Amino acid sequence: MQSNINIQSGNMIDKQHAINYSEGDDWRHLPSLHQRLIESAIEAATRAYAPYSKFKVGAALVNHEETIITGNNQENASYPMCNCAEQVALQKTYSDNRETKVKLFAVVALNGNAELIAAPCGACRQVLCETVNRSGTDFPIIMASQSGAYRIFHSVKDLLPFSFEGKDLTS
Ligand code: THU
Repeated sequence: MQSNINIQSGNMIDKQHAINYSEGDDWRHLPSLHQRLIESAIEAATRAYAPYSKFKVGAALVNHEETIITGNNQENASYPMCNCAEQVALQKTYSDNRETKVKLFAVVALNGNAELIAAPCGACRQVLCETVNRSGTDFPIIMASQSGAYRIFHSVKDLLPFSFEGKDLTS
């Protein structure tokens, strides 16, 4: 909902920020690597530990060596301690090899609604941005449903405009 408070300021200008993404209704028509990654994410989601939310998330990435690495959400009775699938996948990847470059990333959610297109939470978007910055390599993110519908964001940076970054910490 938009605020109806009118701000008037002499030098203020209105701006827009556009993000680019592609959408499709059947990821089984995407290139085989994309399909394999989505299938790996779905498989990972089936192994999620989500007894509290029953919302199983799977993430899969392919690295510069063409290896697929997966992660899923790991919940805890102390709810704020739940770990998101995307972050688990990235932590697995970067704890094994800090020089990794991610080529492609996929996320899916299994919650009984096969049409649901998964969307990374804000914290995961922040971690994805850090991954781009630390590796010096941007990569596409596929958000997929089980049934087929998907969105592909060609740049992680589009997921978190005006993001807070390490360089902001230096004066
Ligand atoms: N979850 C993820 O794994 N990734 C996200 O980007 C969104 C949320 C998990 C956390 C929690 O285990 C469950 O989904 C419900 O929020």
